[in-house]
Amino acid sequence: MSKNKAATGINRREFIRSTAAIGAGLIFSPMVLGETGAGAKSDDINVAIIGVGDEGRVLLESAVKIPGLRFKALCDIWTSFNQQNASRFLKAYKQEHNVYVDYKEMLDKEKDLQAVIIATPDFWHSEQTVACLKAGLHVYCEKEMSNTLEGARKMVVAAKETGKLLQIGHQRRSNPRYLHCYNKLLKEAGILGRITTVNGQWNRSVQPTLGFPQGKGIDEATLNKYGFKSMEQFRNWRWYKGLGGGPIVDLGSHQIDIYNWFLETSPKVVIASGGTDYYNKKDHEWYDNVMAVYTYETKKGVVRAFYQTITTNCYQGYYEVFMGDQGSLLISEAGSRGEAYREPTAPQWDQWVKNGFLLAPPEKKEEKSDSGALVDVRESPIPDAYKIGVEFKEPYHKPHLENFFNAVRGKEKLNCPAEVGYETAATVLKVNEAIEAGCKLEFKPEEFKV
Ligand SMILES: NC(=O)c1ccc[n+]([C@@H]2O[C@H](COP(=O)([O-])OP(=O)(O)OC[C@H]3O[C@@H](n4cnc5c(N)ncnc54)[C@H](O)[C@@H]3O)[C@@H](O)[C@H]2O)c1
Repeated sequence: MSKNKAATGINRREFIRSTAAIGAGLIFSPMVLGETGAGAKSDDINVAIIGVGDEGRVLLESAVKIPGLRFKALCDIWTSFNQQNASRFLKAYKQEHNVYVDYKEMLDKEKDLQAVIIATPDFWHSEQTVACLKAGLHVYCEKEMSNTLEGARKMVVAAKETGKLLQIGHQRRSNPRYLHCYNKLLKEAGILGRITTVNGQWNRSVQPTLGFPQGKGIDEATLNKYGFKSMEQFRNWRWYKGLGGGPIVDLGSHQIDIYNWFLETSPKVVIASGGTDYYNKKDHEWYDNVMAVYTYETKKGVVRAFYQTITTNCYQGYYEVFMGDQGSLLISEAGSRGEAYREPTAPQWDQWVKNGFLLAPPEKKEEKSDSGALVDVRESPIPDAYKIGVEFKEPYHKPHLENFFNAVRGKEKLNCPAEVGYETAATVLKVNEAIEAGCKLEFKPEEFKV
């Protein structure tokens, strides 16, 4: 068997099973078993979804492929477009369901639901999640958990009080490649030595203002009832204060969540700089350009962690790099990126190649240049890049949804429960505060706990 085959040959299911067991431990909670109602197969779960915009659709496309889910209800205020399209999609998968505009009506009428997926704009998450938990449903709620820490706090409290599950949609937490990096490369092999620095970014090109198809607008009364001033604001809610949190929250929360996870702690201090430097402040209230530096005090020492998100240039896209005195690890949700670089002074990594944790860098070949001198030719443009030993080619959100529904079935523990989502929200929301304050802000340990 070739080196590559050996390394990529880690079976995904076995892998998830083993890492879930290491990272979380299995639970078989009587609380969640046997709740599916009389006559139904014990593994079937009746599900609703609230909010079927871009992300709701992405989640639905994965969810319909998970066995045993029965979508009974779909709720979205954009009846003439998103609601209609998603309903058609569910019907194509023979998922018979009722449609609603208002989630309260849905909760009043649908009495045999066990779980709900929430993918509405951030400012709706807290109210809808709390109501669903109180109605007895397990909730998968998209990130950002809430646009306010107070909203996020209420969600944690409601999950605790009701004993229902609340998974926050930081889907990298269930991604086999990220689990491999954490469990195998960092914990078991310790390939980085002492981590001192983290660097991450999500750089995006200029984005047009989102519009909507002609004749498919929502009437003003409905928009106002659901917290939007206009169709423009409804479509571009992320940029508005009170509705979203801007790119640092929208994009950064995914990656800063990884900082907290991999460093196994939350930060002590943040300094940040940002502004609406490029777009019009009237319809881009949140900052289009943000740079932040966190200070972490980990068990092994201080780590400085830089993060930037810009929205005018996509150079190098999105990734996180963890740097230690023995190596660096670059990981990204983009499946093609995931590599490690050994420091010249560090011990060899042959054993990690042998056991499939890493794939060896391409063999050095020698070729003659035009002048006749010998030059190195490597397949990778970056010398000595060890690829990480796990491939993952499924939709990004599927394992996180699977983890949620397996937890509902009492077979797994949540990979991103409310308390973890809360810590991330506390970490990320502080960046906007630091920009506004124009100074260094400290975190108190109690800010991360409810
Ligand atoms: N995990 C990820 O990778 C990821 C990616 C993108 C977005 N998201 C998150 O998903 C959520 C939705 O983002 P999006 O890009 O799909 O936004 P979107 O604007 O495309 O979709 C939001 C949908 O919610 C509906 N809606 C708004 N208010 C509602 C209400 N009160 N009740 C019912 N429906 C309502 C809208 O009609 C729309 O169909 C956000 O929280 C966002 O941060 C997560």
